[in-house]
Amino acid sequence: MPLTFAAPVASAIPVTLCAPPEVEGILAGLEPAAQAWVRHHGFAGNLGQVCALPGQGGVPSGILIGRGEALDRKRRRFAVGAAIAALPAATYALDAIPTGAEGEEVALGYLLSCYRFDRYRARAAAGARLVAPTGLNTQRLERIATAEALTRDLINTPAADMGPADLEQAARGLAAEFGATIAVTIGDDLLAANFPLIHTVGRAATAAPRLIDMTWGQSGPTLTLVGKGVCFDTGGLNLKPGDSMGLMKKDMGGAATVLGLARMIMAEGLDIRLRVLIPAVENAVAGNAFRPGDILTARNGLTVEINNTDAEGRLVLADALALANETPPDLLICMATLTGAARVAVGPDLAPFYTDDDTFAAQLSTAAAQVADPVWRMPFHAPYEALIEPGIADLDNAPKGGMAGSITAALFLRRFVPDVARFAHFDIYGWQQSDAPGRPKGGVGMAARAILATLPESLTA
Ligand code: BES
Ligand code: MN
Ligand code: ZN
Repeated sequence: MPLTFAAPVASAIPVTLCAPPEVEGILAGLEPAAQAWVRHHGFAGNLGQVCALPGQGGVPSGILIGRGEALDRKRRRFAVGAAIAALPAATYALDAIPTGAEGEEVALGYLLSCYRFDRYRARAAAGARLVAPTGLNTQRLERIATAEALTRDLINTPAADMGPADLEQAARGLAAEFGATIAVTIGDDLLAANFPLIHTVGRAATAAPRLIDMTWGQSGPTLTLVGKGVCFDTGGLNLKPGDSMGLMKKDMGGAATVLGLARMIMAEGLDIRLRVLIPAVENAVAGNAFRPGDILTARNGLTVEINNTDAEGRLVLADALALANETPPDLLICMATLTGAARVAVGPDLAPFYTDDDTFAAQLSTAAAQVADPVWRMPFHAPYEALIEPGIADLDNAPKGGMAGSITAALFLRRFVPDVARFAHFDIYGWQQSDAPGRPKGGVGMAARAILATLPESLTA
């Protein structure tokens, strides 16, 4: 379903957003009968509260929706937009647009609430149509919501239909739509092209592993996005228990998120040169699977001792990051569903990120608050470097003891980008566990809108 706003129509039902202290003022402007009606329904302007005002012929003359207090809005982002999307089928128009970030959040929240994953079951579209609110860049919001829907669709699609070849097709579709160039290295060609870790992790699967390399844009500063594309993570020979494996179709959430972000950037037509690198593999079990104890040599020559085949994400990313490092961009961003430890540390809502660049960290944190896409900075704590140095190889892919699991994974990745001035890694979760406003249960993009909001300044300043 297209995530768009409606064109203005005379019959649009006016929607008034109303915080608790504003209720009395709004009531004062209503007929006595309507006032009594609103009081009867106990409308108090609480966040997401809805009250239809009685009108001619049974059609509401207007809708009141509670904006709540500022703190409520922080606690439940997109609640107002979700309330609009849940109204009965009709066309609605906001009669006043909240200023600044709140207006954008309401409008985007409406669009994101219209998302449905309907590949396997028909789903009724939202009946409520919202007229494009004036004063906002609504086309930009539509592009952002469409990109977020791409991310969600990719994550939600099960591994049987979203293997490495399907992920490649998704990237090819995006490249075709925006005139990007794409090159894909597949199967044994990965060995010839020196991507040994991507090949090793993916070789046990029936679907061949591959590296997707997409470039777009002719001028401007350079941004490279790297996304973990593990289309299914069984854990390999260190097999995951069933409970932990159940959701592992989402282990390409990093790839899905960078593709969504790439879509935002290309659709927006930003004056930057973009590169997207996605190692797409399945971490499967077979006789030719890599083993605990194996020592692998990465693209950049570093040797890695495998102490757990379930720490596969950092391996495939290592080769892709080493390639990115060969042509250092102004900003390099890595996104990956890399560790269970990240989720333990910050839960499913926050996107934890690592960077040595204080300027970028500040730009990102400010932008994240602005666009309701929360992030949290984590430390590249140098003393923990010792934890990823096993003794008989340069690096250990799975330090014993499990201390600081998200940090040690981030430190591991940083070893592959020594020449990149500005590097950030996001250890995202990529999944919404239960329905929330604008974010139904299922795959969800994280931090992409926050990153977008830093562009292009974060590439140069
Ligand atoms: N894909 C998982 C990480 C993951 C698990 C993300 C659950 C989100 C939810 C990753 O490949 C993995 O298995 N990591 C291991 C690393 C460990 C063996 C060092 C982990 O986090 O347990
Ligand atoms: Mn794993
Ligand atoms: Zn994984």
